[in-house]
Amino acid sequence: MSQKNSAAAKESNKNVKVIDNVSGKESNFPILTGTEGAPVIDIRKLYAETGYFTYDPGFIATGSCESKITYIDGDKGILLHRGYPIEQLAENSDFLEVCYLLLYGELPKQNQKTEFDRAITLHTMLHEQITNFYRGFRRDAHPMAIMCGVVGALSAFYHDSTDIADPHQRMVASYRMVAKMPTIAGWAYKYSLGQPFVYPRNDLEFSENFLHMMFATPCEEYKINPVIAKAMDRILILHADHEQNASTSTVRLAGSSGANPFACISAGIASLWGPAHGGANEAVLNMLNEIGNKDNIADFIKKAKDPNDPFRIMGFGHRVYKNFDPRAKIMRETCHSVLDELDIREEPLLDLAMELERIALEDEYFVSRKLYPNVDFYSGIIFQALGIPTTMFTVLFAVARTVGWIAQWNEMIEDPNQKIGRPRQLYTGSAQRDHVPISERG
Ligand code: CMC
Repeated sequence: MSQKNSAAAKESNKNVKVIDNVSGKESNFPILTGTEGAPVIDIRKLYAETGYFTYDPGFIATGSCESKITYIDGDKGILLHRGYPIEQLAENSDFLEVCYLLLYGELPKQNQKTEFDRAITLHTMLHEQITNFYRGFRRDAHPMAIMCGVVGALSAFYHDSTDIADPHQRMVASYRMVAKMPTIAGWAYKYSLGQPFVYPRNDLEFSENFLHMMFATPCEEYKINPVIAKAMDRILILHADHEQNASTSTVRLAGSSGANPFACISAGIASLWGPAHGGANEAVLNMLNEIGNKDNIADFIKKAKDPNDPFRIMGFGHRVYKNFDPRAKIMRETCHSVLDELDIREEPLLDLAMELERIALEDEYFVSRKLYPNVDFYSGIIFQALGIPTTMFTVLFAVARTVGWIAQWNEMIEDPNQKIGRPRQLYTGSAQRDHVPISERG
């Protein structure tokens, strides 16, 4: 094999022949196989051999990297982290165990878990001067705007973990990111309310601590509801990683130039914010509120189907899943159990969501395009039941996804095939032409 492949990617005995009908030249490209999923055509030499680039806006058929972290079978609705099905992780692990798995590749033994949990808690505080940074934001700033800014600024505070060539510094930066995100997120919320920042408490579990930093005040004791803490932990697990989605690819692309991890994660947060990605959970709730009641569902479905109307049913559809998103199934169950446990007998938005889901799943438009509810369809309703404000929904997604981003970033740095990400293009602008003096322009 002329170009480097890792120990896992195997060159099969098949290849793909490209015949240039103009020159008659034939070129062969090897097919590489992984452990699961579609094989890939290795086109790294395509341009050198044929003079052609490939054209694939949105990377619909392009594998951008080799990865051992997460696998999705979109047709079967399967999601595996390091080989373990998401259903088993959601049932049996806590969020920090999943973090360990994503970062290290194996489930931790008891002593490893104890050490890891302790190490994370030692990084939960933020440099005190970061409080000044928050004060520069308007009070009505969207918390995702604050997240982009504060996370990007971490590289100005933690210089001792920005040398990406040093594996120890990379791991310290990874722990810092996982540990500090709930604090950064909690403080973004507190700032929007005009309440004092609540400092982390290391005697609490990860999700309990997160709730504490969002909801405690200095005036009275905040009692953590174990049902809410458990649901929060499960939601974090469901969002922890999702292979090469837009924000993860953004983190990898930013990191491919050698940028420091804090800057890369900030880029990932910016990408996540969009309504086609993590911003969908906030958009679902806004949409349900706009629909208002079941009588209006038909009108909104009609709008979603109209090719001349940009409106889409938020929380529906996925680039990879052409079957039920397995995370949405667990999210729906969690949603019902949270509402039961909190004794919320009637939740009009949940009723509306279920009716919308029922109607859409019977509609030819959605059926033929294999558009199913995704993870964001139900998460907003649970967040609302947990007392979390709408603008914080995508922030919660970012807190959870940080471990996926950082695990994928580490994997990229260690990949012997890693190169700066630099796609090519199909240029359709003006051909070369000469500058015309302004007085002579018609
Ligand atoms: N409502 C109505 N029509 C839709 C929807 C939707 N939610 N999603 C896709 N379609 C239609 C789309 O108009 C197209 O129809 P046609 O073939 O007639 O042109 C067809 O389905 C295929 O859609 P696409 O835009 O080519 O698919 P994509 O893979 O580029 O986009 C998506 C995937 C998730 C961006 C899109 O389904 C979408 O915008 N969904 C709503 C936003 C959303 O829920 N995002 C969260 C994704 S999951 C969590 C995450 O990634 O953060």
